[in-house]
Amino acid sequence: MAFKSIRGTKDILPPETARWHYVESVVREVFHRFNYKEIRTPIFEQTALFARSIGELTDIVGKEMYTFTDRSDDSITLRPEGTASVIRAYIQNNLGEAQPLVKVYYIGPMFRQERPQAGRLRQFHQFGAEAIGSLQPEVDAEIIAMTIQIYKELSLAKYALKISSVGCEKCRPHFKEILQNELRKIAAKLSPDSQRRIEENPMRVLDSKDENDATLTAKMPVITDHLCAECARHFESLKKYLTSFHIPYTVDGRLVRGLDYYTKTAFELTSAELGSQDALAGGGRYDLLTQELGGKATPGVGFAAGIERLMMVLEKKGFEPAADIRPALFIASADAESRAWSVATTIDLRSEGIAVEADFLARSLKAQMREADRQQAKFVLVVGQRELGSGRAILKNMKTGEQNEIPLDEIRKQLS
Ligand code: HAM
Repeated sequence: MAFKSIRGTKDILPPETARWHYVESVVREVFHRFNYKEIRTPIFEQTALFARSIGELTDIVGKEMYTFTDRSDDSITLRPEGTASVIRAYIQNNLGEAQPLVKVYYIGPMFRQERPQAGRLRQFHQFGAEAIGSLQPEVDAEIIAMTIQIYKELSLAKYALKISSVGCEKCRPHFKEILQNELRKIAAKLSPDSQRRIEENPMRVLDSKDENDATLTAKMPVITDHLCAECARHFESLKKYLTSFHIPYTVDGRLVRGLDYYTKTAFELTSAELGSQDALAGGGRYDLLTQELGGKATPGVGFAAGIERLMMVLEKKGFEPAADIRPALFIASADAESRAWSVATTIDLRSEGIAVEADFLARSLKAQMREADRQQAKFVLVVGQRELGSGRAILKNMKTGEQNEIPLDEIRKQLS
């Protein structure tokens, strides 16, 4: 039986990989311009790290993690997101010691065992960033501006930004009670999932996908109307910054993120060009997380974006894959001796920085010319016994069809 990739995972094949290189290079470039530096953390961590940070009661921790016991009987989990690992690394490596505000970014695979569908995979990729060390709303605004700048530079202009504040340890418990009281009044009419959430995580009830639940809770109180003075001030300031950056947004007091570590700012960027999985990116502030994970109390804010979803939107827009890698020169050879020469020459030219390909299948000259064409080589050099003897050969420009006889020791000059 032939092997197949695991459900919810996907091979990224050439030339699609060229498109990924392009997107990743734009993302990196924007991160660097905003002075974020790359961090690479392991793909797996102790299970407890994610349970503690994302929250035991979330869908991610409750149902979606790839968790296994390794041969040392330790519980290990493939990272479902990047923030927990970054904060673990921040604490473990004392990153805050050398600088008060640590700005890092990451690009890589994440794993969640969700039901696969368009835009939802079990191994997917995110790019994301975290700014650790500042309580200031300026940083929240910078994170959102940076997220949007990335989409702008990829010419993706149609998205909606929703922002909210989910409060802090002072105002959220109070709001939870208010909401719970309201929800208990209609509990019997809600879906079983929502009924369970009234006590566990009432804010999630407002995010129920059940239509009846949505109608019943449409007029429920929202946290943005119940913030403490400090959270309200922070939120007002963030809105002012976004306006001054000319970034349009809507306030959505019902915005619920799938992770429990957020305090104050939460945001999501959606695209109408995606189906039901319409979130391009999401993020927010997590001022209690570092302490929760055993570090010194340090505020933070960040975001992450799904690369597959971004690719889906770009493809819909007719985004042409960036040109794949193509050889500057293809050396076609007529026989075994000239093939040996051409292979040796490719090694020399490559060491000088020139992308070269030759024939490795002992094909006819005609087949080699077809291959050079298929690979979109810019030039083809044809060598045989006569050319090796005279030290001169024909160099053909594949675009213009122009042919020139050149001395073999001048290939470099001709190509430059
Ligand atoms: P998240 O909202 O869980 O946030 O994920 C961010 C983005 O990852 C989503 O908006 C979506 O584009 C993509 N994504 C999530 N799950 C899948 C999936 N199964 N298949 C494809 N794409 C997916 C976080 O992960 C937080 N760590 C963001 C953050 C950073 N908050 C603060 N700092």
